[in-house]
Amino acid sequence: MLSPLRVAVTGAAGQIGYALLFRIASGQMFGPDQPVILHLIEVPVDKAMHALEGVVMELEDCAFPLLAGTVCTSDATEGFKEVNWACLVGSKPRGPGMERADLLKDNGKIFVGQGRAIDEHAAADCRVAVVGNPANTNAMIGAAQGERIPAERWTAMVRLDQNRAVGQLAKRAGVSVADVTDTYIFGNHSPTMFPAFGLAKIGNRPATEVLDGSYLQGEFLETVGKRGAAIIAARGASSAASAANALVDHVRGLVTPGKVQSVAVKSDGHYGFDPAVWAGLPVRTTETGYEVVEGLTLDAFAKEKIAATNAELVSERETVADLLP
Ligand code: NAD
Ligand code: LMR
Repeated sequence: MLSPLRVAVTGAAGQIGYALLFRIASGQMFGPDQPVILHLIEVPVDKAMHALEGVVMELEDCAFPLLAGTVCTSDATEGFKEVNWACLVGSKPRGPGMERADLLKDNGKIFVGQGRAIDEHAAADCRVAVVGNPANTNAMIGAAQGERIPAERWTAMVRLDQNRAVGQLAKRAGVSVADVTDTYIFGNHSPTMFPAFGLAKIGNRPATEVLDGSYLQGEFLETVGKRGAAIIAARGASSAASAANALVDHVRGLVTPGKVQSVAVKSDGHYGFDPAVWAGLPVRTTETGYEVVEGLTLDAFAKEKIAATNAELVSERETVADLLP
């Protein structure tokens, strides 16, 4: 019997939290043999903490064999104590008409306190997945707050964008999503992101041979880049079930050696990104961590798109310069 992993989830009483916790507790994130202790972190507000009590009652009522305990708290020290994974979801979602970057000032500061608490109290092997928007820059802010947990252990989620891109390509080509491979997101989790259709394959053929270029350069990029806003407009609330699903994929991929997926990581200059920004990149999980997949061929169109999303990430970093030590 494996010893339990401690997994922190912030914003545990929120929309994504509600779609996420049951999947972690059932074994979908860490596998069918891995017990977990959930550290559920919320704001110190009665309404949120009461809602969290209700969620814990429901977790108990599922009688998940892998759920070895829960900790409910609004205290970051207690919440992140000895955790092996921190899923940072808690933060404000955008509303209609807003861009994710509009959340920077409000949400960015959350990651200062949480970054410090993780660095001081988490387990030495702790890994972090940031979902709260703007996710790339929030990961950069959090990682900058400490030294004990290396910056490369801080990742941000662009897996939802990858899944969206796969879904759109499959729908357009009239094939199963299983037939769409090699689909990677470069850059920011924002409309400037670049789903690199030139690398994607549909039924083992280049997507550019299966679908026409005007669709790929136009409607495809527009649909994937603005999918979050389209969901907010339709649902009146931001994506939750698909975001939770993408986080399960993101973490599961990062604990599965050999898996390749899009992850926002400290770029270290890969594919021309500024070395200090967190950029979506194709990442391969290794036995001890991950490595960026190098040497993929990108054409002039792709390079121009990557330069634009990099410029946005650099400008977000300038906006939050006061939150970086
Ligand atoms: P929500 O408002 O339903 O829930 C957020 C929860 O976080 C609330 O319960 C709130 O009390 C809590 N919270 C706020 N500040 C906190 C803090 N400092 N510590 C702990 N908890 C805190 O929002 P949601 O729909 O669950 O979305 C959460 C975030 O995820 C938003 O920023 C949203 O934009 C983002 N998001 C990102 C992606 C992505 O692909 N990266 C996808 C969907 C949503
Ligand atoms: C999404 O992509 O659905 C989330 O980032 C929510 C949003 O603000 O778009």
